[in-house]
Amino acid sequence: MIRKAVFPVAGLGTRMLPATKVIPKEMLCVVDRPAIQYVVEEAVEAGLSEIIFVISRGKEAILDHFDLSPELETELEARKKTALLEKVRRVSALVESLSAVRQKKALGLGHAVLTAAPLVGKEPFAVLLGDDLVQAEVPCIKQLADKALELKASVVAVERLPREKVSLYGVISGEDLGGGLWRVQGVVEKPRPEEAPSELAIIGRYVFFPEIFEYLRRIPRGAGGEYQLTDAVAAMIADGRPVYALEFQGTRFDTGNKLGFVKTILAYALRDPEIGEELRRYLREDLALL
Ligand code: UTP
Repeated sequence: MIRKAVFPVAGLGTRMLPATKVIPKEMLCVVDRPAIQYVVEEAVEAGLSEIIFVISRGKEAILDHFDLSPELETELEARKKTALLEKVRRVSALVESLSAVRQKKALGLGHAVLTAAPLVGKEPFAVLLGDDLVQAEVPCIKQLADKALELKASVVAVERLPREKVSLYGVISGEDLGGGLWRVQGVVEKPRPEEAPSELAIIGRYVFFPEIFEYLRRIPRGAGGEYQLTDAVAAMIADGRPVYALEFQGTRFDTGNKLGFVKTILAYALRDPEIGEELRRYLREDLALL
């Protein structure tokens, strides 16, 4: 069983400035809830009951969002706003166990995951990045967790992207095992398109066995002067430890940049049972777009 899910949310979110000057990027609203809520919902749906946030200064709003809010609840109760009260209560009821650890300096995703080591202990765990939302029939992280338990090895999620887009990601090379599964042979962080070993980019979902921490402790600073998670994965492979990549079933949305964020809102709003139909009409008739 995999129980623990680590959410590294200590990054600076510079691509979404000035929106993220005061508000964590994970708290930016997608239709009617902060982006991070969708990702926590995915983890909970996958059976991950222990949520661990790696936060930094100014990110406390993320923790508060998943906590009880007695004053607000009392007020909504007094005003007989039952439906809203239910919505608010559902958020805090979502997370059974929530803990947080602080990453004092934004030294990279690898460093952020290592910061969670004392809370993870000696068991396999999931890592989910709040920028990536995934719409899928089976939660993306469950697809990975099932494979990781079956193979008894770490599994990362990959998506096939056009070559000119892979340079923003970690890119794998590997042996095709069929059914979207790859045995990873190498991984490069943010390669130039012509140097990318494939078109398979690592997205923000991972399942690791605790051996990853040994490698995170060992790696030097990598691309951008940061401790890169992909460098630890590369070191693990170089040591002969098996790592797999799974082309997950589903659609990913990247909320971490301006265009991706707007596309995400649009896609989620069009699917929303309350506003989807009217939004479609508005795009088609008022804006003459569809
Ligand atoms: P990003 O590369 O998206 O960086 O990090 P960022 O700082 O959040 O955003 P930009 O690039 O400045 O706009 C990927 C994930 O790793 C976390 C981020 O919070 C994000 O979820 N992260 C990154 C940390 O927790 N700590 C770090 O030191 C770096």
